[in-house]
Amino acid sequence: MEGAAGSLPRVAVLGAGHVGPVVARLAIRSGHEVAIATSGDPADLALITELLIPGAEPRRAADAVADADIVVLAIPLHRFLKVDPEPFSCKLVIDAMNYWPASDGLLEAFEHGSAGSSEIVADRLAGSAVVKALNHIGYHELEENALPPGSPGRRATGVAGDDPEAVAAVAELVDRIGYDAVRLTSLSDGQVLQPGGPVFGLVLTRPEFERAIGAEPVTAGPALLGGALSGQGA
Ligand SMILES: NC(=O)c1ccc[n+]([C@@H]2O[C@H](COP(=O)([O-])OP(=O)(O)OC[C@H]3O[C@@H](n4cnc5c(N)ncnc54)[C@H](OP(=O)(O)O)[C@@H]3O)[C@@H](O)[C@H]2O)c1
Repeated sequence: MEGAAGSLPRVAVLGAGHVGPVVARLAIRSGHEVAIATSGDPADLALITELLIPGAEPRRAADAVADADIVVLAIPLHRFLKVDPEPFSCKLVIDAMNYWPASDGLLEAFEHGSAGSSEIVADRLAGSAVVKALNHIGYHELEENALPPGSPGRRATGVAGDDPEAVAAVAELVDRIGYDAVRLTSLSDGQVLQPGGPVFGLVLTRPEFERAIGAEPVTAGPALLGGALSGQGA
């Protein structure tokens, strides 16, 4: 992994459950400054951070978000619906959340209609650039399969968003933390990454990933995929 602390985007991870600490560890390992937060007092996170996420700074969520270049939402979706959107204004936000009725309960907004869950998240965070990423691989696998760029058999993960610059920045982060980024040019196309979609729960190489989502294989450079995915939502 490359990068030196201080020269890379500062990352705030909201959520210190299953997936938050994994994302935080991978980002620290690749040279990012990382703050981690729950909805509570950061003092309550100090010991777990020291033991499980050494190098991360436990902070109050609002402070972590305020100082971050990239915010990772690794909290249950039903909890997100109670979060004040204001501090996220103008931030680059990675939506790593999934709508999971077994733990979220039935959420009307996510049950009906053709919008992907990240489109609904983005509507709530108007003024932020929301990118869907890091949601479709289980937390154990996410950590175990991370490999440096160019490694044989490196796995891929999808990065979907409406703002090309935001997608590019998240693709770079994803690449640094251990995955080939398969870019999807809209949040709507990111529905292929959701539960029930063709790559959800799978850890695939880039060619396997592209085949699974029905995209043309890319022979050089990062994938930039778009309209081919329309209508393939979960
Ligand atoms: N588990 C996986 O393998 C996996 C993989 C990819 C994506 N995801 C998705 O990621 C999300 C989180 O999953 P998880 O399994 O990590 O959940 P989890 O184990 O239940 O952890 C949730 C964490 O979010 C924190 N939290 C809740 N509300 C918060 C708020 N407003 N601000 C800051 N932190 C808050 C909780 O702490 P407090 O309650 O103390 O605030 C807790 O630390 C879900 O949407 C899930 O679908 C999960």
